[in-house]
Amino acid sequence: MLLKKISINFCYSNKFVYFRGLTNTKLNKNMETVLITGASGGIGKEFAQVFASKGYNIVLVARSEDKLKSIAKELETKYSNKVEVLPQDLSQADSASKIYSEVKNRGIAIDILINNAGFGKFGYFTDLGLEEMTEILNINITTVTQLTSLFLKDMKEGNSGKILNIASTGAVLSLPKLAVYASAKSYILHFTEALHYELKDTNITASVLCPGPTETGFIKRAEAENSNIIKGGMVSPKLVAEIGYKGLMRNKMTITAGFKDKLFMMLGTLIPSRRLLTAMAGRLM
Ligand SMILES: NC(=O)c1ccc[n+]([C@@H]2O[C@H](COP(=O)([O-])OP(=O)(O)OC[C@H]3O[C@@H](n4cnc5c(N)ncnc54)[C@H](OP(=O)(O)O)[C@@H]3O)[C@@H](O)[C@H]2O)c1
Repeated sequence: MLLKKISINFCYSNKFVYFRGLTNTKLNKNMETVLITGASGGIGKEFAQVFASKGYNIVLVARSEDKLKSIAKELETKYSNKVEVLPQDLSQADSASKIYSEVKNRGIAIDILINNAGFGKFGYFTDLGLEEMTEILNINITTVTQLTSLFLKDMKEGNSGKILNIASTGAVLSLPKLAVYASAKSYILHFTEALHYELKDTNITASVLCPGPTETGFIKRAEAENSNIIKGGMVSPKLVAEIGYKGLMRNKMTITAGFKDKLFMMLGTLIPSRRLLTAMAGRLM
């Protein structure tokens, strides 16, 4: 009876369905929600664009609240989906629990988790301060692992979900002058590949994306502008996000952004001597 009284007006745009009169909430066709960390710039911002264009609701996480709000506004205007902003410093030890609690408080269910935020510092290990080293380890390892654990438990309850962790092509090597960062990314590579296998008999997937040098704010923050790592050229963050999206949807275990990166990641298997491999990496840096 109640429903009869309410004039339900279905209005189809090319992507979305609005139920006018019943609720003011804008609903996507698929209603899935993706949480993206490090979404205020670089690859994460491009991931937000890709997922928004595919009709997902999005939760954007990073420190820069203003940037996140402006991205949210742009995406909501362009695609009419729901975009939430969740400012958080992910280098803090308790940041994963804070994000998880806030997501729960807002009544959001996360279908896809993209652990993208990360940073490194170029230079000798002895020049890396204790505080910055801890931040690198927290953001690249601890927070990623904890966020994965917290949201995966929910995904297991519904036997559905996807996780994408961002490592690096450098994850396969021992990289002098990026010793802590590259080792942290090695952890992410191995952790995610192991998880991919553990989840093989479920409807939940875990993939790891390994970008090579990419044109983002990462190089400047790492103070690596004069290093050799970028001399071979950089790819666009848009391309990396598009390849990451496709790989995630196809349940690829390890995703590389192009043939050059794939070849680079095969170095470890082509050169059996780790001493030689590390010496080559040292010269390259
Ligand atoms: N660019 C490359 O060459 C390259 C190569 C291989 C792997 N990667 C990996 O790709 C991922 C994305 O990096 P990117 O290249 O897009 O770098 P980017 O342009 O520097 O973006 C990094 C993102 O992470 C966020 N972030 C940094 N520190 C944070 C913190 N403490 N708390 C919360 N968010 C933080 C930044 O936002 P706020 O500053 O607003 O917090 C920003 O949104 C990283 O995991 C990186 O390690 C990059």
